[in-house]
Amino acid sequence: MDIKKVVVAGGGVLGTQIAFQTAMKGFDVTIWLRSESSIGRTQPKLDLTRNSYRKALLQTKAMLNDPRVAYIYPKGLIDDITKTTEADIDALLEKVDQTYEGLKLELDLNKALDNADLLIESMTENINDKIALFDKIAPILDEKTIFVSNSSTLLPSALADHSGRPEKYLHLHFANNIWSLNIAEVMGHPGTDPKYFEIMVEFAKAIGMLPIEVHKEQAGYVLNSMLVPLLNSALGLAANGVADPKTIDLTWTRGTGAPLGPFAILDVVGLYTAYEINASSPAAKDPNSNAGKITSYLKEKIDRGETGVAAGKGFYDYSK
Ligand SMILES: NC(=O)c1ccc[n+]([C@@H]2O[C@H](COP(=O)([O-])OP(=O)(O)OC[C@H]3O[C@@H](n4cnc5c(N)ncnc54)[C@H](O)[C@@H]3O)[C@@H](O)[C@H]2O)c1
Repeated sequence: MDIKKVVVAGGGVLGTQIAFQTAMKGFDVTIWLRSESSIGRTQPKLDLTRNSYRKALLQTKAMLNDPRVAYIYPKGLIDDITKTTEADIDALLEKVDQTYEGLKLELDLNKALDNADLLIESMTENINDKIALFDKIAPILDEKTIFVSNSSTLLPSALADHSGRPEKYLHLHFANNIWSLNIAEVMGHPGTDPKYFEIMVEFAKAIGMLPIEVHKEQAGYVLNSMLVPLLNSALGLAANGVADPKTIDLTWTRGTGAPLGPFAILDVVGLYTAYEINASSPAAKDPNSNAGKITSYLKEKIDRGETGVAAGKGFYDYSK
């Protein structure tokens, strides 16, 4: 693998995390933003990402001698927690500050893409906007550049022809809170050269991710193919008055041994994301359908500001 310069297109929630994580692992990273006003929106996200990295490391340092540290340490930053010392964590904290200072933001697309070994697209999930950007990028991208997208819902084959290099085009899909929930799903389309699939698996490892190899195009990759049906089944049970969220979570945790139930997971994902997934389904237009009932059930909570962990309250209270 010979990847040095990495360009991240889009400085939103995920773009800033991908850029930060990649730079933490020693790659030369540039975030391309489309306008001056994007810088103003990206800067607070970079601040938040730096603070999240610091918080995760400080929490780990404070719990180094507590066996429960195994559940909370940032797996994208620390390989073996049993061999980690306070000095190792101090060095990582210093690296976080260096990474923050060293990240490059660039508005000029030509300059950003010049000599890039890898382009990671992480802009808003809108197929027409993505295609418009791909069509702009394809003619100016270096021949050597591998092109990946972090799209959550689009298949690589929907975008490959617009990449200008279908054989070097595939998806590399991260999870929110990349430093801790460190999986990267690698998924090509039938025209992806297996060589570049392998290079992305190696790259994922190099930036502290656990690569998940997805060998066929699959909407939702591996994780969301399992997670979305689980969360929707749980929401359907609650929205239909079959059982309350705490009982449903207890059934899941006690019955399977899993540490979290679906409603605790929903609080982490954020209720708004779950709402959007359901509301975008055509079935949700019928208020008596399952999707319709789930949508209004979630909307009531969202209207009360109970949108999950980040808001301090969702299905559970996190204010204390
Ligand atoms: N948020 C998540 O939990 C999550 C998880 C995995 C993957 N993703 C994927 O990551 C991508 C980005 O999601 P996000 O949550 O970071 O979104 P976001 O809304 O936080 O950020 C989107 C970024 O795209 C930029 N952008 C919007 N339109 C653009 C255009 N026409 N040209 C160039 N830049 C443009 C915005 O300025 C912003 O910086 C999406 O494809 C999404 O499916 C998101």
